[in-house]
Amino acid sequence: MATTASLKIEDKEYPLPIMIGTEGEKAVDTRGLRAASGYVAYDQGYGNTGSCESQITYLDGDNGILRHRGYPIEQLAHYSDFVETAFLVIYGELPTATQRKEFGLQLRKNAVVEMQMQKILEGFPTSASPMAMLSAMVAALPAYYPHLATNNFEKDLKNFDFAAAIAISKIRSIVAMIYRYIHGLPFVYPKQNLPFCENFLHMMFSEPYQDYEAVPEVAKALNLVLLLHADHEQNCSTSTVRMVGSSASNLFTSISAGISALAGPLHGGANVAVMQMLQSIHDEGDDGTRFIAAAKSGTKSNRLMGFGHAVYRNFDPRAKIIGEACDTLLTRLGINDPLLNIAKNLEQAALKDEYFVSRKLYPNVDFYSGIIMRAVGIPMNMFTTMFAIGRAPGYIANWKEVASNPKGRIYRPRQIYVGATKRDYVAMANR
Ligand code: SDX
Repeated sequence: MATTASLKIEDKEYPLPIMIGTEGEKAVDTRGLRAASGYVAYDQGYGNTGSCESQITYLDGDNGILRHRGYPIEQLAHYSDFVETAFLVIYGELPTATQRKEFGLQLRKNAVVEMQMQKILEGFPTSASPMAMLSAMVAALPAYYPHLATNNFEKDLKNFDFAAAIAISKIRSIVAMIYRYIHGLPFVYPKQNLPFCENFLHMMFSEPYQDYEAVPEVAKALNLVLLLHADHEQNCSTSTVRMVGSSASNLFTSISAGISALAGPLHGGANVAVMQMLQSIHDEGDDGTRFIAAAKSGTKSNRLMGFGHAVYRNFDPRAKIIGEACDTLLTRLGINDPLLNIAKNLEQAALKDEYFVSRKLYPNVDFYSGIIMRAVGIPMNMFTTMFAIGRAPGYIANWKEVASNPKGRIYRPRQIYVGATKRDYVAMANR
């Protein structure tokens, strides 16, 4: 296997090292290209550029493979749960029974959100974006935990375990608070004896006079949805966390930036866009046929949301798992959701349609996740905040890789300037 690539520009050759990952991924290391040749590599949107070496998640988009620390997502979905998978993603190994118990205890001990933080929420109109509220609340955490957020890698890594538990647990509790605040309901305090997902459902749906009792299948489905979102290589929001973390920003500040990136409808906001799409198809009495025709126009505003992916050119393995879990949960709860039937019609039609097949557009994680969250009782405007709860372990693990990399550098991409060339100032009178 070659260890060096050679780039020929005009009459000169530039040797560039080749990198091979543990799963055989190949890269040309262009770090020395500009110094040697004056040229930079150009890749708008970084779709073909590796920004880092990472040990967390391996993703093969052509073959629909997703593994966390080497464990296939199908096995984690079948045998594990969200908290255990979070530990694996963050620390690199499945926890022992003692580690799992201690990790769970740390999450329970840090489930309560400070009273003063409630005032931050109360500064928002109830119509504000839940993702904006979540990002703001997470950005405020360093003010409450300054010793965990010193913006000094060495000090912050010393307290990493505590900061990680706080981030995972509080993001979950804050999402429940946001839901209560939007609906004018009193905040519900967590219970020390409840597991992660059951505690979330309790904080969301319990009333002063009536505790919410999570049906086991509902808690199991929520666990699965969060687990499937735990990490996904260098996606838009995770790369944002790494970018912000590379400036030595603390964990909470970096995650807050990632949450803002996740809010976009082309990324984490797609689960809401999928449900809005399905609902509009249903309201128009369409079975999806008309919509599919419009989706093939290729305009970003008409896209079949929940389809296509920047990396997968095959089925997103998470979509398959969530689709099956949808059927199981809705059958168990006796729910006949017309939107699920429309989603299935769309999937079947698209998988046979040359436009989608030729572009390798398949369902992604967002295509069915909204339907399962709706069955769990989560309102649509909270779907993307659920994605953020699930993705917190991935953000945390990636921030740790940046913070603990002794050869790490601040992220600072270059550009190709295509603006006006040098020109002199023109006095107002002469414009
Ligand atoms: C997530 O990166 C991650 O890992 C993200 C994520 C994670 O876990 O973090 O997996 C979560 O963000 C999933 C993706 C959720 N977004 C959506 O479902 C929105 C709908 N899908 C897209 O807009 C689109 O597919 C993207 C944004 C996901 C990917 O865009 P790309 O790779 O930039 O694809 P593209 O825009 O270059 O499109 C290639 C072609 C174009 O047609 P042509 O110009 O070749 O004629 O495919 C078409 C596009 O018009 N196309 C679609 C389409 N997606 C792409 N046409 C109709 N419907 C779609 N959904």
